[in-house]
Amino acid sequence: MAETFDISLNSLAGRSAALQDLSSECAPALPQSQVKNGRAPQTAPFATATSPRSGATFFLETFGCQMNDHDSEKVAGVLLSRGYKQVESPDAASLVLYNTCSIREKAAQKVFSRLGEYRTKQAAGQVIGVLGCVAQQEGEEIFTRAPWVSLVCGSASYRKLPELLAQLEAGNPRVTGLETDTDETFETPVTRRDNPWRAYLTIIEGCDKACAYCVVPFTRGPERSRASDSVLKEVRELAELGYSEVQLLGQTVNSYADPSHRRMRFSELLLAVADVPGMRRVRFTTSHPRDFGADIVAALEAQPKLCNHVHLPVQSGSTKVLREMVRTYTRDEYLEKIAMLREARRPIAITTDVIVGFPGETERDFAETLGLLEEVRYDSLFSFKYSPRPNTPSLAMRDAISEEEKSRRLTVLQEKQREIQSQRNASLVNTRFEVLVSGKSRRENQWSGHTSCHRVINFTSQEQNLLGTYVHVLVTGAGPNSLVGEQVT
Ligand code: 5AD
Ligand code: SF4
Repeated sequence: MAETFDISLNSLAGRSAALQDLSSECAPALPQSQVKNGRAPQTAPFATATSPRSGATFFLETFGCQMNDHDSEKVAGVLLSRGYKQVESPDAASLVLYNTCSIREKAAQKVFSRLGEYRTKQAAGQVIGVLGCVAQQEGEEIFTRAPWVSLVCGSASYRKLPELLAQLEAGNPRVTGLETDTDETFETPVTRRDNPWRAYLTIIEGCDKACAYCVVPFTRGPERSRASDSVLKEVRELAELGYSEVQLLGQTVNSYADPSHRRMRFSELLLAVADVPGMRRVRFTTSHPRDFGADIVAALEAQPKLCNHVHLPVQSGSTKVLREMVRTYTRDEYLEKIAMLREARRPIAITTDVIVGFPGETERDFAETLGLLEEVRYDSLFSFKYSPRPNTPSLAMRDAISEEEKSRRLTVLQEKQREIQSQRNASLVNTRFEVLVSGKSRRENQWSGHTSCHRVINFTSQEQNLLGTYVHVLVTGAGPNSLVGEQVT
């Protein structure tokens, strides 16, 4: 059973709120619209505050996915509870932390070049730390390549952070947290949330799937689910703090397995979260097609507070490529899940992830992916060129596709999807949506927010102080990536 670090949660929401756009689990941080006039910071007394060196400050930069963003919120909470103050520039910080991502691209090189900029800082008394996937992947090698780094900690070891920080504060020049064979989850009493209206909440960490291209099982360790009563307690606390939307997170969120005696199924947990007084919208991401069952669709049908959006990464439309990727489903089996969603009593937006140029992907395989897009007509799609990753089985696969060809396929795929999205969004003109308002434009009377189906909508309203409220908007125009409208009463 997962051991927890479960005291009480204090949200330290405040700072300028960053609105995360519709995003895949490990998608790069997507365009963030800065929300102006965020609600006043909510601080609560720290249950466990201990003071480090006086005047300690930290700067925390995050690369990568929503899970990373949320991990950073928790790390910031741990630091704030120890008396550190957050600063906006690395130069002003006594502790500089990079929370890194290695799912795609040459992330490690990027991190090392960023670390290079801090070579001289150690002498000036600054402590430099590397967190996240690159920390896990490169391990102590980081100390060899960047000897001015003092802390290397992978996400599976974040629970040890207070202990590691105490060692750093005691002057230990090198501390590491690199174990992945853990049954622990990173639950902190003090998460500092950046978005004042939507709270992210990890319910399952790590991944037990073994997709041939993916570093996550290696960098984040095995699946560990949080006990349902601990999740529900945090949701109740979030509601009391004024959050009305919660997004449950996990690399494979629907593989959730309640370790407590309650043994709640994922679909039951969804319903229980939606039942918490004050919660108005519940989202979850990312779902794995293999574990996506009829009970989840039934929950969505039964409870309108569960947002009508499912992110269901397909990766490829070719059964042959899916087999090579070890995705554990065929094209037809995936399409059966889509059919289940399409048959639901209310419309459910479906989004996906696709990788182009996996080793051995032929023109024909690629054409099958394009055909799948036509068939499913996704509401949005995240598409990636295959990128060979260290410690993954596909690294050794032959028949690599050239970079040029990968780029060509990506462009073709994105053009097809753009066409589909333009048509789908155009069909929504003259319909009405409930919108959670999360942004105010510099232009007068212009606001933005998200629908339950997670579309971005920019709209006009003569009203004041709409941030954080729910309004009804009539769609008057549509582009491939967003809708335009006006508030209606
Ligand atoms: N190359 C390209 N895309 C990848 N993804 C994961 N690993 C890789 C890789 N090695 C994509 C998948 C996954 C998303 C989070 O990132 O589409 O769903
Ligand atoms: Fe990676 Fe596959 Fe796990 Fe997703 S399900 S995190 S793609 S191994």
